[in-house]
Amino acid sequence: MSVLKELDTRVMWHPFTQMGEWDPLVIARGEGNYLIDEDGRRYLDGVSSLWCNVHGHRHPRLDAALREQLDKLAHSTFLGLTHEPGIRLGTALLEVAPRGLSRVFYSDSGSTAVEIALKQSFQYWQLTGHPSKQRFLRLGDAYHGDTLGAVGVGGIDLFHRIFGPLLVRSIAIPSPASDGTALERLEHELRTRADEIAALVIEPRIQGAAGMLVHPPGFLREASRLCRAHGVHLIADEVATGFGRTGTLFACQAEDVQPDFLCLAKGITGGYLPLAATLTTEDVFRAFLGRRTDLRHFFHGHTYTANPLACAVGLASLALLQESTFPSALALLPEVGRSLDRLRSHPNVRSIRQCGFMIGIELESLEGRSTGYEVCALIRSHGVILRPLGDVVIWMPPLTLQPTDLELLETATRRSIDVCFGLQCST
Ligand SMILES: Cc1ncc(COP(=O)(O)O)c(C=O)c1O
Repeated sequence: MSVLKELDTRVMWHPFTQMGEWDPLVIARGEGNYLIDEDGRRYLDGVSSLWCNVHGHRHPRLDAALREQLDKLAHSTFLGLTHEPGIRLGTALLEVAPRGLSRVFYSDSGSTAVEIALKQSFQYWQLTGHPSKQRFLRLGDAYHGDTLGAVGVGGIDLFHRIFGPLLVRSIAIPSPASDGTALERLEHELRTRADEIAALVIEPRIQGAAGMLVHPPGFLREASRLCRAHGVHLIADEVATGFGRTGTLFACQAEDVQPDFLCLAKGITGGYLPLAATLTTEDVFRAFLGRRTDLRHFFHGHTYTANPLACAVGLASLALLQESTFPSALALLPEVGRSLDRLRSHPNVRSIRQCGFMIGIELESLEGRSTGYEVCALIRSHGVILRPLGDVVIWMPPLTLQPTDLELLETATRRSIDVCFGLQCST
């Protein structure tokens, strides 16, 4: 065992990991769409380093933006002060975000972006004379992060059940991916108790952590219309879907939806640094205005809010996305579709769900086994890194994926499924 592996095993505690079965893989470098381990082995980063890498690793444009900012300022607080990278990125985000959003509140992770939207929505209703609007609607199997507020609007039992006693409870609407009555149930809740409800929190179009559950077209638009009609905010959590992942720059734009809050993180810096943003409307912003002594302002902030290095790289990432990464990703999508069609016919693949570059390959379940986990362990020997969600193998590669990378991803996935299910290798 290498020195680093030995040290890691002795002192580290990794997220979402059963440390009793931990087998470390030490990543030493990144190069384009590949990660390179300490022994020089290369792996396609098939889940974009947990869904955040956009342009591949060590992109010269992002590296340069970061270095340039480093020569000016690494960090200064956004509480009571401001700085150019924060202002410029915020302005650029509003230019490309769904219409109707005009204010940007920074934080540092997807979970905090959601917490902020929940708290701002809640406080908005308190400030505007609707004190009974204190509850949140969410979808079945929702995932919005791991801080307690975000867990309170989450619905993945496996992750959330144990923390139940700590949570502010939300009202669940069935996921439209699995229940055709979702809109009726939403309408019922809104009709009967909109005066208790601050907001509906939703992952637009596709619920990632639930195993890539795709919503029927039109659901988002109709849910948004119903919220508006009943005076309930719509919080769109685009932490996973934002920055081109679903085939539009933001998922809301596919259904021309204008949310009251848009939560962004992950891809906002191209996967370089922790940064998040909660975008909202002028109506929400104005409700918090007054004199300092009125105590109407938003009492929330984090030390690294709007970190200048992160904002500078975020600005470069957004420009690059629009100029080249997003158009080239769109051009590759038909090829991705053909690749998935071939995998769909595999005897141990139950279904494949896709929304742009967010893909879930659901495998057959086997009693007492974790097929998704096993396939993702096997695939490493083919030079690919993937992470499963239960029996669903996730593909969420960088948007700079090349045809040869796609070929590797498909072949390695098929062969690993073959071995997992004890089949002869099919290719
Ligand atoms: C939709 C969604 N919201 C929120 C989060 C939480 O983001 P973070 O892990 O940056 O806190 C995630 C993470 O996967 C997510 O997929």
